[in-house]
Amino acid sequence: MSKQDDHFFNVFGAVIGILVAVTVALFVLARMLGAGDSRNDPLQQAEVAGRTAAFGQVAVAGQDNSALAILPTPSAGDAADAGMTAALPADGPATYEAVCGTCHANGIGGAPKMGDRLAWSTRIAQGTDTLNKHAIEGYQGSAGYMPAKGGRADLTDELVAQAVQYMVEQSR
Ligand code: HEC
Repeated sequence: MSKQDDHFFNVFGAVIGILVAVTVALFVLARMLGAGDSRNDPLQQAEVAGRTAAFGQVAVAGQDNSALAILPTPSAGDAADAGMTAALPADGPATYEAVCGTCHANGIGGAPKMGDRLAWSTRIAQGTDTLNKHAIEGYQGSAGYMPAKGGRADLTDELVAQAVQYMVEQSR
């Protein structure tokens, strides 16, 4: 074997050795990371089942459909219920932030922007009752379509009226 070959095998052997060491290190690291894996944890499995549950369920005649019953209060911590029933906002400003601002913050679809005095002056002149009525029942105006309660049918009339009041106050 020439001296050059010797050199080659030395370097080659060293490279192979380093690669083997890296492989073993990665293997050990993966095992360590995997140790915290809770895929077999029944609690986590239940959570995942809740998150990945189908939105719709079908009642089948002759079968036990009790699981489809609409319960008055969703059990706390039930992942399947989370997010499906949004809590009602607390007051006018919160209602505006949660619902009305979607359109009224930027004038989406012809909605008069909150704070735009010019746009609101003629509307305010109609009187609070008309504004409330339009916000609660919805109406088609010349600028666009205002959906009843901004599309959140579960809002109380009072919350909508408070949101109107808030928007009007901010737009005088
Ligand atoms: C999907 C968009 C959208 C949302 C959400 C929305 N609005 Fe409107 N709103 C409009 C549009 C568009 C108009 C203008 C309609 C017109 O005059 O042509 C309007 C107009 C109004 C007016 C003026 C009514 C009048 O008689 O001039 C009030 C008050 C109002 N909205 C209140 C609210 C309140 C309160 C909420 C939240 C509960 C809300 N809006 C949510 C689109 C929206």
